[in-house]
Amino acid sequence: MNRPPLDYLIDYLRFPSISTQSNHKPDMEACATWLVDLFREMGLEAKIHKTKGHPIVLAKSAKKAGKPTLLIYGHYDVQPPEPLAEWTTPPFEPTLRDGKLYARGAGDNKGPTLAHILGTKKILEEGELPVNIIYLIEGEEEIGSPNLEGFIRDHREELACDIIAISDTIMPANDWPTLTYGLRGVAAMELTVRGPERDLHSGIFGGAVANPATAAGRLIASLHDEKGHVQIEGFYEDIRPLEKWEHEAFANRPSTDTDFLELTGSPILWGEDGFSTFERVGARPTAEINGISGGYQGEGTKTVLPREAIVKITFRLVPDQTPEKILRLAEAHFRKHCPPGVTLEIEHGHGGMAYFSDPTTRYGVAAKRALKTAFGKEPALIREGGSIPILHQFHDILKTDILLMALAAPDVQAHSPNESFPVKNLESGIRLHQEFLKELAAC
Ligand code: BES
Ligand code: MN
Repeated sequence: MNRPPLDYLIDYLRFPSISTQSNHKPDMEACATWLVDLFREMGLEAKIHKTKGHPIVLAKSAKKAGKPTLLIYGHYDVQPPEPLAEWTTPPFEPTLRDGKLYARGAGDNKGPTLAHILGTKKILEEGELPVNIIYLIEGEEEIGSPNLEGFIRDHREELACDIIAISDTIMPANDWPTLTYGLRGVAAMELTVRGPERDLHSGIFGGAVANPATAAGRLIASLHDEKGHVQIEGFYEDIRPLEKWEHEAFANRPSTDTDFLELTGSPILWGEDGFSTFERVGARPTAEINGISGGYQGEGTKTVLPREAIVKITFRLVPDQTPEKILRLAEAHFRKHCPPGVTLEIEHGHGGMAYFSDPTTRYGVAAKRALKTAFGKEPALIREGGSIPILHQFHDILKTDILLMALAAPDVQAHSPNESFPVKNLESGIRLHQEFLKELAAC
């Protein structure tokens, strides 16, 4: 039965495949099964691979000798939809408004991945695939891909390919074809600051014991100077300087600070002194507080001295920083700056190195040609701030380059309420996939 692409996307978006919340385990499995069914319907050999976490979906076309092999990676997991009250329509009831489909995961990453899948489907309906194709769709990207590296190692022969393509990045402006040649890495850390053994009356005890929330505030404040430079000793030590052609690419980026500011809803753009906005995001490492908690959060006031405070932090990394070293330096920094009267527990979280690729290889050139034909415009060459932690392992284990071709624009509201994906991007994605396969076959 031939259904329009949009119908498939609506079905795909109905699964609340939230990887970080354990109560959604059955939804993860259902979503993976839906993908396998779709791949089989298309005539690919498809299988669910169980992991210690969420399943991995692997699908393959029948391998033909003499054709290059393309691996397409994507993720079917999504970020939590909270805060729910800010959604115009419910996050897992996909709704079409003004040419965009609204749902959690629409832009990141179900829409873009599905564009590739439906592109393959279309080619198969009309004839034969010009390349061998492998789809690897995982369910743990949004939690740092904890089980994917092992899977890639164990299946390295089955996953052997000439090139990897991913559409899980962002174009600088809508309909602007984009090859992303660099992404930042990431390293996560959580601080727990503890004081008294229980919450105390802040009048009876306040002033006589240290307040963990105040101590957490001091730790947070110690991270940056007033010009936005990270104060962790050695933090900037390993950074690879920008190459000459990159300065040009940054200068030619097809979007302005004004466009970017508008996307944020912030009063002004602000960041590390001495760098442009897009350098700050694409080529500089950062330290970001993702969450602070501790003490009374309810309505009204409560005079309490909290027993603990928690700070969630992620660092974004650039080549050649490693998550291990950055977390080690950060831990030393926090231990040194921890004020007296509290204890500090530091937990190291997930990490992944930055990715940087050469856009001038023959595959890079093939991608640029396909992007140009599909969108009718010269593609932008950019570095971005987001992370896909597994890229580095893909490259190391499979010895393959990765092409990042964006299909979502910055206004898709990834990770935010009212995430969406324009129907027309689904169509341009299908077109891009067809063009890309042709170019690859000619490579
Ligand atoms: N699609 C994003 C990564 C991305 C966003 C790349 C914007 C380029 C531009 C991906 O799904 C994502 O959000 N990754 C997480 C990884 C983290 C949870 C380990 C991220 O970057 O926060
Ligand atoms: Mn994504």
